[in-house]
Amino acid sequence: YGTAAVNDRGQLEIGGVNVVDAAAQFGTPLYLYDVALIRERARGFKRTFDQLGVTAQVAYASKAFASIAMMQLAEQEELSLDVVSGGELYTAQKAGFPVERIHFHGNNKSREELEMAFDAKIGCIVVDNFFELDMIGDISEARKQEMSILLRITPGIEAHTHDYILTGQEDSKFGFDLNNGQAEEALKIASEKPYVDVLGLHCHIGSQIFETTGFVLAAEKIIGKLADWRSRLSFEAKVLNLGGGFGIRYTAEDDPLEPAAYVEEIIRKVQAETKKAGISMPEIWIEPGRSLVGDAGVTIYETGSVKDVPNVRKYVAVDGGMSDNIRPALYEAKYEAVLANRVNDPVEETVSIAGKCCESGDMLIWDVPLPKAEAGDLLAMFCTGAYGYSMANNYNRIPRPPVVFAEKGEAKLVIRRETYDDLVKLDLPLGLPQPN
Ligand code: LLP
Repeated sequence: YGTAAVNDRGQLEIGGVNVVDAAAQFGTPLYLYDVALIRERARGFKRTFDQLGVTAQVAYASKAFASIAMMQLAEQEELSLDVVSGGELYTAQKAGFPVERIHFHGNNKSREELEMAFDAKIGCIVVDNFFELDMIGDISEARKQEMSILLRITPGIEAHTHDYILTGQEDSKFGFDLNNGQAEEALKIASEKPYVDVLGLHCHIGSQIFETTGFVLAAEKIIGKLADWRSRLSFEAKVLNLGGGFGIRYTAEDDPLEPAAYVEEIIRKVQAETKKAGISMPEIWIEPGRSLVGDAGVTIYETGSVKDVPNVRKYVAVDGGMSDNIRPALYEAKYEAVLANRVNDPVEETVSIAGKCCESGDMLIWDVPLPKAEAGDLLAMFCTGAYGYSMANNYNRIPRPPVVFAEKGEAKLVIRRETYDDLVKLDLPLGLPQPN
């Protein structure tokens, strides 16, 4: 996993930072990110586009992990930024992220959120539906302010992944349908709006996808449609955004491509198809989230109670759970883990890692081979960098863990641990008299 290493005392190191020391300094649970690995992934995507001679934008899908420091890191790596809410946009503004490289997504953006995007003069809004298109038309005319948009289309592709993270199929809450005339109607409506500039199309077929087939099929369909629109409507797309969704390896059972390899295969296809269709190659945008930060993040827990159900299973509980990683409970997501304070100890048993929430479904890993864990060991669970912190919650009023960036042996706190005071700071007292 990235720059993960084991030192001569058998302790795990991430980004040159000793996990045992980090746990002592920042407490557990703790999310630790290998910053060099994030940089390497970002550069890998950009290098691939350069090698193929394709003008591109690589936007970080910040829903995977949004924080000021993360967005500043994305800016250092010259990425663009995909935001999906006023909250993510606000964070980007606080991070000082260059507004012209911000793209705004979402299937139900509110008027306030759209106004915020106009105020900030962001680079582009990815329009999802007719309701939003109308609002953008109104706002832009009222302000006499131009706005660039992409139309999000659903190509009618079923990618192979968990149902909850599928998005490209016809029966989806996202986007204009490419096959039944909706997308074309949206294009016509948008083209008549004086302050709206349609840069092109966007499509995102799903997440944690291991094959390029779905992307290639989607690209083929879209390019076919673009050729048609060029001849009939004289519409020329400057931008084609192919979304994110490139799968990563969570466990040995997963068999993804290298992140940049997805792009290479897909782009070669797009180049061939555009040539065949006789249209000029649009600028290609992608918006990976998971494949930029997923395997760069590790969660460090301290182990506590151990419950043996004889001949059935042994539960080893940790000091976090579905409050800091809801993916096992929500998607049956699988992870691997080691005892970070003694990585080289021989494996002695297969145990299941239980979270501390009051819910039987709060299991982080079923059946993981480990040395015999005792209270006070440190468990490192790998690949929690995407949709870990960003989906963390306060179930059972458990404070959210801190986030530490590790690079070249330096540990930098980028999100502090939530306190009990943080938990009650929005609460107001009952303020009602006792009923008789
Ligand atoms: N672009 C759009 C329009 C998206 O909807 C998404 C993810 C992405 C880009 C980034 O996809 P990625 O490269 O990260 O796969 N919570 C789920 C994943 C939900 C993904 C939602 N959209 C999980 O934990 O697996």
